[in-house]
Amino acid sequence: MQNSIKLRKFTPNDLQTVMKINRICLPENYSDAFFMDLYRRFPETYIVAQEEGKIIGYIMCRIEVGLSNFGFEGLIRKGHVVSIAVLPNGRRKGVAQGLMEFAMKGMLNYKAKQCYLEVRATNDAGVALYKKLGFEIIRTSYGYYSDGEDAYIMGKKL
Ligand code: ACO
Ligand code: ZN
Repeated sequence: MQNSIKLRKFTPNDLQTVMKINRICLPENYSDAFFMDLYRRFPETYIVAQEEGKIIGYIMCRIEVGLSNFGFEGLIRKGHVVSIAVLPNGRRKGVAQGLMEFAMKGMLNYKAKQCYLEVRATNDAGVALYKKLGFEIIRTSYGYYSDGEDAYIMGKKL
């Protein structure tokens, strides 16, 4: 990632910009209360990327307790990447990779042992990003999205 691009934690002042990037980049949109709830509960994994003072991408996550995706460890803490996006002009510069790495470090602060997410099965850029970061496809969730598309559940040990 070029050194003109900075990663930092989200602050409430960033809310409107992050919501706008979410609407531009993804069909899954959320209320401002949803964005702020994730910030209030999991600030260490809520990160923005900034270039020349402008936010160009974000990642927001949640920590959950659930069954391990790798072997029989019983219930563990898992970091769930709820949403990540980078504006079209900022893509293929390593920004999403940087956001994911920053957020996965933050997950360790919450004692998460694994990270997982859902991604549209046709989202080649997303799937390639997560594979590059060492994620594997755990399973397919058929018809997961509201328009009927399938999701891959992808996960990785932290
Ligand atoms: N085609 C193929 N591989 C890609 C692509 C692509 N279009 N984009 C990223 N990758 C892979 C490559 O391996 C790349 O490494 P390389 O450039 O050295 O080859 C690696 O991912 C890292 O790429 P970044 O530059 O860090 O990714 P970018 O900042 O462009 O953001 C993202 C990727 C977030 C998927 C972006 O395309 C985007 O915002 N898309 C729309 C929103 C979206 O799909 N978000 C993910 C939904 S799933 C979820 O939120 C849990
Ligand atoms: Zn999810």
